[in-house]
Amino acid sequence: MVHSILTSGSTYWPFKKYFEIYNRSIKDPEGFWSEEARKLEWFKTWDKVLDWNPPYANWFVGGELNASYLCVDRHVKTWRRSKVAIYWEGEPGDTRVLSYSTLYREVNKFASVLLNLGIKKGDRVALYLPMIPELPIAMLACARIGATHTVIFSGFSAQALADRVNDTGARLLVTADAGFRRGKPLALKRIADEALEMAPSVEKMLVVRRANIPVSMKPGRDAWLHEMMEKASLFVNPDPMDSSHPLYILYTSGTTGKPKGIVHGTGGYLTFNHSAYRWVFDIKEESIYWCTADVGWVTGHSSIVYAPLMHGAAIVLYEGAPDYPGIDRWWDIIEEYGVTIFYTSPTAIRMLMRFGEEPIEKHDLSSLELLGSVGEPINPEAWTWYYKHIGKEKCPVVDTWWQTETGGIMISPAPAIECPPLKPGSATFPLPGILADVVDEKGETMPPEERGLLVIKAPWPGMFLGVYGDPKRYVESYWSKFPGIYYTGDYAIRDKDGYYWILGRADEVLKIAGHRIGTAEIEDAVVAHPAVAEAGVVSIPDPVKGEAIVIFAILKEGCSPSPDLKAELKALIRKSIGPVASPEEIHFVSKLPKTRSGKIMRRILKAVATSASIGDLTTLEDESSVEEVKKIYEELKKEV
Ligand code: WT7
Repeated sequence: MVHSILTSGSTYWPFKKYFEIYNRSIKDPEGFWSEEARKLEWFKTWDKVLDWNPPYANWFVGGELNASYLCVDRHVKTWRRSKVAIYWEGEPGDTRVLSYSTLYREVNKFASVLLNLGIKKGDRVALYLPMIPELPIAMLACARIGATHTVIFSGFSAQALADRVNDTGARLLVTADAGFRRGKPLALKRIADEALEMAPSVEKMLVVRRANIPVSMKPGRDAWLHEMMEKASLFVNPDPMDSSHPLYILYTSGTTGKPKGIVHGTGGYLTFNHSAYRWVFDIKEESIYWCTADVGWVTGHSSIVYAPLMHGAAIVLYEGAPDYPGIDRWWDIIEEYGVTIFYTSPTAIRMLMRFGEEPIEKHDLSSLELLGSVGEPINPEAWTWYYKHIGKEKCPVVDTWWQTETGGIMISPAPAIECPPLKPGSATFPLPGILADVVDEKGETMPPEERGLLVIKAPWPGMFLGVYGDPKRYVESYWSKFPGIYYTGDYAIRDKDGYYWILGRADEVLKIAGHRIGTAEIEDAVVAHPAVAEAGVVSIPDPVKGEAIVIFAILKEGCSPSPDLKAELKALIRKSIGPVASPEEIHFVSKLPKTRSGKIMRRILKAVATSASIGDLTTLEDESSVEEVKKIYEELKKEV
């Protein structure tokens, strides 16, 4: 794979192959995508490539396929039956290696267990599992019979789990006794028991024995997976699914307190990811591909399960923490399995950078061919460190921009199709088929080097089908700002060479260590405390996590600030959301700046938290009296 870095002074020239493919994809999107879709195996070919009824797209209308068939059956018909599909490493050091034929057998048996539990096509199945092979197996088993899976990150609390399960109305919950994190078992079954007290739709709970810790099994409701697998059939037909059949629902944060269930379909989603992983990662059957994300996020869905397995690659699945038991655990895993493609987050890179180069030098990382980054903007310093010390200046670094909603990578270098040179910190150019733009508030294209809103001006096959159970929110959150145009919620600039630089969120969504959390979600959790009257949440820059959470809270009459109260609030947030939302600072204040309609002015709070000036207040829409806001700002500065 040839690549180069654009250094200041080098001239920019068009890279023929990328631009040829890109231009063709934009000129004839339907011809282009139907050619891409033909690279998968369909049970029935589509009648129409695209039905675009803004903002609703239907891709490969009338086509039928099955995700599980594409990820396993297709391979067991070839030599790949005996090749590795999953290298799994548990945190304590236990390992499992699954060939494609083993994976095929496990997926079939698991699908049979689902059928034996009465799960049918169209049912929702919630998966609350650690990073163990049973997680991808369960996903593929659901896909095999047409049950829609919803994976819930195993770091979420009982409350957060129950909220998501309730929203989907799932009939089955799959969990494990526990998973390992930093040497300790995290008792998932216990959390699941607590969640099910609040989630009446769930009829059955299937439990994987992972950590061998004692759990209580509720008769009639709970069953051990290994016992059910003994009675399972070895083959379950991969049911042909309509191209728009919902493959999964995945929850993500928005600007209100309630997370949104992003629904992805089958035909468009799989086609888009199949193509993107070839362009961006040059993934092949011989690749040993390690994406360090948790399957609980979209990265895990597309980058650990569906795309690499469709390509017949071997994936590495690691259960635990990057620095446990030693700070070189990841480098050890790369060496052990001969990882060729490594995909992680800027937060992880910045954390590992802090340990210096010595832990890396102990290991042979020469198997690496390509490095990737995802989840948040990567600063040029971290990019360069990654390129130099992990990739030894021979691996391209692909900074991939995408979202839960987009289903797959949208803006990224694509070394396998001769993309333009890399620039440290830039996601470079949109992938073929992606009509991106940077616009102002009116939707006009911004001139080069000026910050604007990132939008996508044409439908793409990976786009989500909607927000589960909330069609209004789909339209309002994404398609109302600029009708017919997808609003990403991100700021970006395009430089004079046309390269995209993603600058972070333009809305009230935070990115904490790459995890997406809405300020309103945290505020809701905090005001649930009996001593709190009101709360405003903002973020401050953090050298490792990118952003860290700061809370401003007004207490109720008669309640007074104390370190104990701070600790209680922290515990409450962990309980209602999970440790990912732990705040860095909590300030008890007497007032919050608000607009006339009563909306908290987070911009002012942010200026207080970062000791910045408040800038020009006259541009604020529906602002409160400028003088009043200035006064509150000055008072708050003294209070914190
Ligand atoms: C938001 C989406 C995509 C999988 C994981 C995150 C930010 C994502 C990048 C990147 C700058 C990025 C954006 C985006 N983001 N990738 N390469 N450079 N920012 O999915 O949780 O849906 O979050 O993550 O702000 O909107 P997500």
